[in-house]
Amino acid sequence: MPSFADHAASRRKFLEFLAASPLLAAGGAFAGEELAPRSKLPDPLTWAPMRADERIKSPKEAINVFDFELVCRENVPPAHFGYMASGIDDEVTLRANREGFLKFQLRPRRLVDVSKVDMSTEILGVKYASPIVLAPIGGQRSFHDEGEVACARAAKAGDHLQILSTAASLGVEDVTSARGRPIWYLLYATNKWGVAETMVKRAEKAGCYAVAVTVDRSSGRNQETFFRLRATDTRNCNACHDRSSLQSSMRTRAMYQGIDLSGLTNTQSSAMTWDFLKRLRDTTKMKIVIKGVLAWEDAVIAADNGIDAIIVSNHGARSEDSGRSTIDALPEIVEAVRGRMPIIVDSGFRRGSDIVKALCIGASGYASAGPISGDSAPSAKTASSACSSFCARKLMR
Ligand SMILES: Cc1cc2nc3c(=O)[nH]c(=O)nc-3n(C[C@H](O)[C@H](O)[C@H](O)COP(=O)(O)O)c2cc1C
Repeated sequence: MPSFADHAASRRKFLEFLAASPLLAAGGAFAGEELAPRSKLPDPLTWAPMRADERIKSPKEAINVFDFELVCRENVPPAHFGYMASGIDDEVTLRANREGFLKFQLRPRRLVDVSKVDMSTEILGVKYASPIVLAPIGGQRSFHDEGEVACARAAKAGDHLQILSTAASLGVEDVTSARGRPIWYLLYATNKWGVAETMVKRAEKAGCYAVAVTVDRSSGRNQETFFRLRATDTRNCNACHDRSSLQSSMRTRAMYQGIDLSGLTNTQSSAMTWDFLKRLRDTTKMKIVIKGVLAWEDAVIAADNGIDAIIVSNHGARSEDSGRSTIDALPEIVEAVRGRMPIIVDSGFRRGSDIVKALCIGASGYASAGPISGDSAPSAKTASSACSSFCARKLMR
């Protein structure tokens, strides 16, 4: 039997061989591409690969939303980029959210006049020019100084519904004013009723039309991509993030200002049940939406209990690594709900054709993570590609 020393010697020889090999020299040529995302997703581009050294110089140069990701990777601190890009555990769900679309094909009908296209949609009785919704994204000042207000301006430009997160950097009043129309407020309820109640009243006073309750963040999460990229960040994170208490760690989040977080160790809603929604109904006149539904049984309970709309979402593969994409979950939910309430869907949507697949299956709107870097507005870009896709739905009827 070969000894440990034999193994070590042959391993060393093999490494020496590799070091001298032209294969590694070729690898060296790719060193400049270290900023490029690896090929974890089934996304572009076989014939026109995106190269880190060919980043777009302005939003106008973008050919698709993936172009913005490279710019974001370059401009945003590694910890913040990692937070945005991370899935959970092995990121099976993150890949599934994109791969799921490959299982559905469009069946276009021809010879229908599409010279004038109306992309507008109505959600809960309110008309928007586009079926694309800006999903709630916490702490947007980690990505751009103007944070959620910049997104509000993009939402206004394309007349999109915007949903503002409890974890937003900026307050609901400023964002509503920049949007110029009522937005929806996304509630992270915590396990303390008083926190939810105060926030909901503030959102209602600011003119919000609906409160969407996140129901898929009931525990901690293992965001390994985030942890790895954070470890490469050389800045002093403590200068901005004070983790000495929950209250102080929320200091930079506008919606937590003046809220008593005593008694809580985190902002998750581990104790939330359907009773919470009943109590919420007695507290607010806003429409109530649930974000994070993935099973038809929950959708039916929501409809039976007068919930106004649901968002089919796996939190962009950021809550648990279930392995199931939302486009896979959508058909059973649409079938079970039978038109009793609107269904919005998010997670993994990057192209107009993704959107039209969801619309064809029966969703009313689709939510995107919104602008991802700099002063870019990929939501507007995505909106324009959705135009042709949305009209395809009309053709298919
Ligand atoms: C950086 C980041 C922050 C997010 N913050 C929130 C949040 O505060 N509340 C929430 O309900 N969802 C949050 N989400 C999830 C989004 O609302 C949405 O469900 C998800 O991004 C859609 O998937 P996609 O990123 O693949 O488009 C966040 C997502 C990202 C990427």
